[in-house]
Amino acid sequence: MEQKKIEQAYIQELYVQEDDLLKSVTTGLVENGLPLISIPPEVGKAIYLLAKISGAKRALEIGLLGGYSTIWLARGMGTGGEVVSLELKEEHVDFARQNLSRAGLLDQVSILVGDALVILDQLIGNKERFDFMVIDADKINYPLYIEKVLQLADPGAILCCDNLFFNGRIFNEKDARNPAPAAVRKVNEILSSHPRLEAILFPIGDGLGVARVKA
Ligand SMILES: C[S@@+](CC[C@H](N)C(=O)[O-])C[C@H]1O[C@@H](n2cnc3c(N)ncnc32)[C@H](O)[C@@H]1O
Repeated sequence: MEQKKIEQAYIQELYVQEDDLLKSVTTGLVENGLPLISIPPEVGKAIYLLAKISGAKRALEIGLLGGYSTIWLARGMGTGGEVVSLELKEEHVDFARQNLSRAGLLDQVSILVGDALVILDQLIGNKERFDFMVIDADKINYPLYIEKVLQLADPGAILCCDNLFFNGRIFNEKDARNPAPAAVRKVNEILSSHPRLEAILFPIGDGLGVARVKA
């Protein structure tokens, strides 16, 4: 086994306690013919901990799928926390609602269905505020998502962006010129140099970017 896989298995076995409900989201994705592209368990645990440590009260998630990451996030925030999750596909929303219901989290999670770019503009128009943000959707729009979520962020808010290695595609100079990997490279440049952000890229899962929003 290559080193990275050994490390991942070690972290998952020792540090991540995935309960039956979280496991059932993954089996349910398979049974329903939905894509198996949830965050991995160790990224879920990291988001859970970041939400808990930061005391987040109102989170925004872009990319719900089956609600796997949403469950980790909402559990990290505790019963006083609220999550607003954006999702384009109705069939993903239907499946996620079942999982969130079984997790007893439907009261804490609001799902907004449609194109995240459009919904984010509505949230900005409504002057909504969030103290925790997770971006895990179509990679090509990540740079725009960051620009928009920064308009919704409280000072001190935490921003998590998943897949910032993009399965290693950002390191292949030829491939990295294609739109999706180019967008992910741009995200790494934005996170590492934006005047309103202090950030790091954690090499867990497929690369988890974590930033703190300055005033
Ligand atoms: C990687 S999956 C999210 C996985 C989820 N965060 C988890 O770990 O359980 C990406 C999701 O983003 C959704 N998506 C893609 N483009 C979108 C868009 N423009 N607006 C809203 N959601 C979108 C997809 O339908 C998919 O469900």
